[in-house]
Amino acid sequence: MDILYTAVKHAHSGLRWVVLILLVAAIVKAIGKRRGGTVYPGKDRLALFAFISTHLQLVLGLVLYLFLSPYVRFTSDVMSDKVARFYTVEHLVGMLIAIAIITIGYIRAKRQAELNKGWKTLAVFYSIGLVIILLSIPWPGRGLGTAWF
Ligand code: HEM
Repeated sequence: MDILYTAVKHAHSGLRWVVLILLVAAIVKAIGKRRGGTVYPGKDRLALFAFISTHLQLVLGLVLYLFLSPYVRFTSDVMSDKVARFYTVEHLVGMLIAIAIITIGYIRAKRQAELNKGWKTLAVFYSIGLVIILLSIPWPGRGLGTAWF
């Protein structure tokens, strides 16, 4: 179980960079296209890859949360322990909200293709999701026992 925990934890930790890079790239592209007056074609591969990367992170996160992580616990003292509270409540809630907003943005942009609002919708929803993700990541220095990768 230890090897599995280490593997999933490192995959989850490293994948954060893929998520962040894809989200930033999708947002920059959407803003550029919107400014350039390009019509939203109804789908965008970069936005799709960013969307998929967050869902992959959700799956890895759920595996850690439900089966592997020693930090997640459901005891009455969980709220008084900073690290346990962060992983059991704060990280989960923040990331679920961010992933939901990104998902809504991707689907809504698709539906709004004819109205040509897709690029703006992507830029707005993905940016809000990105900010929440940045705030919910256990960055080194926050005292949560994490690394950069
Ligand atoms: C885009 C979404 C997410 C990002 C970018 C992200 C990022 C991270 C990072 C960087 C760590 C620290 C890993 C380390 O260095 O030790 C971490 C830990 C963790 N994440 Fe996430 N996460 C995301 C979503 C989720 C979700 C949705 C869940 C739960 C369903 C989750 C559950 C966990 C757990 C339980 C840990 C603690 C692992 C441990 O050290 O035992 N994550 N996450």
